[in-house]
Amino acid sequence: MLLLVQEHVNHVVINDADPAIHAFWLSVKHHTKELISLIQSIPLNVEEHARQRAIYSNPEGRDILELGFAALYLNRTSRSGILRGGPIGGKKQSGKYGIDARFNRETLIRQLQLIGRLSSRIDVFGIDAEEFLEKQVPQLPQRHLIYLDPPYFRNARRLYRNYYKAADHARLAKKVKGLRSPWVLTYDYCDEVRELYTGYPMCEFEIHYTANNSTRGTGRELMVWGGGFEMPCPPYATRRTLLKTGAKKDGTLPAAAA
Ligand SMILES: C[S@@+](CC[C@H](N)C(=O)[O-])C[C@H]1O[C@@H](n2cnc3c(N)ncnc32)[C@H](O)[C@@H]1O
Repeated sequence: MLLLVQEHVNHVVINDADPAIHAFWLSVKHHTKELISLIQSIPLNVEEHARQRAIYSNPEGRDILELGFAALYLNRTSRSGILRGGPIGGKKQSGKYGIDARFNRETLIRQLQLIGRLSSRIDVFGIDAEEFLEKQVPQLPQRHLIYLDPPYFRNARRLYRNYYKAADHARLAKKVKGLRSPWVLTYDYCDEVRELYTGYPMCEFEIHYTANNSTRGTGRELMVWGGGFEMPCPPYATRRTLLKTGAKKDGTLPAAAA
């Protein structure tokens, strides 16, 4: 979304198979004002967290806005932003930080207003990634870039409602490698992913995340790319290690495998 907001791209197409995340992006696009008024008024407490969790866990027949807001609420009030995680500060709110630590109403509203103004330049899908690659990618304008952020290879069951087994990751890799478009993919760093994409340029990088105002951590991630384009340095990377071949003197990485 940053690419759109900073005018690096004209249009963004988002896809996520989780009905609540799909509903969140649909709400951002079609119900920005209602989303903002919910952000202004929603209580930030464990009872509300439990109520939003129940909505997220039973998505069938829900209103798009109700379901989309549940995804946003849980992302901002759960530990590490994990929708299935417990509330920041615990059920007894005895932790150092409370449930409201990451729910900054003003910031969220400002971000939504910014994105809402660009809504005509955002398309949203909620389908399986493989189907998206097969059916939607051929409809994209000629100049496009595909970014894939699949469920983590390890520990995914804990993190997402829709997670992949090893065979799903392998099938996705086969599809991605068959793409005629330029693509970039990020994963948790692990040997299994390195093996799946052997022969493609890849680099390891660190991301910094904030679970609440003070709990910070570093995640080790892997970026792989293909489709024949020059990859600039990965964003947010404090330490980059090119895994396949040496970087050029100017710091850029070599052209992706065809
Ligand atoms: C690593 S997360 C991506 C997070 C997202 N890029 C972000 O920055 O917030 C993986 C996402 O893949 C989605 N997902 C899982 N299985 C999928 C599938 N078969 N097709 C499409 N999306 C899927 C999950 O719902 C989850 O949101």
